[in-house]
Amino acid sequence: MNYSQIPSPCYVLEEEKLIKNLELINSVQKRAGITVILALKGFAMYSTFPLVRKYLKGATASSLFEAMLIREELGGELHLYFPVYQEHEFAAAIKDATHITFNSLSQWESFKEKTFNAKISPGLRINPEYSPVETDMYNPASLMSRLGIRAETLGDKLPEGIEGLHCHNLCESDSHALSTTLEQIEKLFGNHLPHIKWLNLGGGHLLTRQGYDIEHFVKVMTDFKTRHPHLDIYIEPSSAIAWETGFLRATVLDLIQTPDPIIAMLDVSFTAHMPDCLEMPYKPRIQGARDPQPGETAYRMGGLTCLAGDVMGMGDYYFSTPLKIGDSIILEDMIHYTMVKTSMFNGVKHPSIGILRNGEFELVREFEYEDFKRRLS
Ligand SMILES: Cc1ncc(COP(=O)(O)O)c(C=O)c1O
Repeated sequence: MNYSQIPSPCYVLEEEKLIKNLELINSVQKRAGITVILALKGFAMYSTFPLVRKYLKGATASSLFEAMLIREELGGELHLYFPVYQEHEFAAAIKDATHITFNSLSQWESFKEKTFNAKISPGLRINPEYSPVETDMYNPASLMSRLGIRAETLGDKLPEGIEGLHCHNLCESDSHALSTTLEQIEKLFGNHLPHIKWLNLGGGHLLTRQGYDIEHFVKVMTDFKTRHPHLDIYIEPSSAIAWETGFLRATVLDLIQTPDPIIAMLDVSFTAHMPDCLEMPYKPRIQGARDPQPGETAYRMGGLTCLAGDVMGMGDYYFSTPLKIGDSIILEDMIHYTMVKTSMFNGVKHPSIGILRNGEFELVREFEYEDFKRRLS
């Protein structure tokens, strides 16, 4: 692969890989008899939406701006789940929406009249009190979670008019976590299932990860549907759609020798462009690099902001050819939860966005000083 045609820094989506993911997801939704929609929170690269539209019936928004982007660029079913709806933007948010999920009974009370008038199918988010996610920051189903209603709070009877339930408790999870989730929903909320029309099982189903047991997923879903044949089942992944669909191209701008390791100063920032490397945290793969063995020269990847912690803190890298200033660094799997989370902290330039299609690179977007200035005043 010749990276010289790609500017640095740049997020590069490899179209073939996105198509492969969408085809797999489409075949799974058909076989399982469910509907998969795209959650914009992890992947909102709308230049790819003409492709997404070929395979998925719609998308879900967690904010007014996401809802607007879905309306403008994707179309189809528009599902809303905002952790909290605001009076002043509610009318704009529900325009063309097909489904709406409320996070609490008080939010439902506040907005039910407007929802009835707009003829949108309403649902409630539930807390299944089970999640395989061990990092607290990413566990939405703890007892103290602000996301979703606990069975105890919901009581024996659903509020009049509620047509669906929504549950999001997974993250990069497998089909066994889904199976446990369904058992938990049946145990805690089973009495409500005969009275609703749809069940949304949220995101976190990493169907496109190598080794995901698709057969088991299909079996778990079809068994569940046999027990509840009247339900329309949705899932709304982000990560699975954009999983392993591209990279972030960066460049080594300087090399700083510390007692150990050598720090490679890049033209990207972990805090501004790859915040999950610090938040999750996780260590991305870098093309041509591996973990250093004792005694080998170790390189730490450093960002270009002046935040002391703007480094890849989860571990160093070994390169068989020593790094030089000007070398390309290809950070793998940098499409989901990157572009959507970036900031212009420290005034650092936002990486460009491009698409690789049949070996040809198309530059989709570049960012300018004006983009930075417009966010401030
Ligand atoms: C309500 C909801 N739906 C869907 C998703 C997408 O999850 P993932 O990207 O893990 O598939 C999230 C992620 O946080 C979410 O909060």
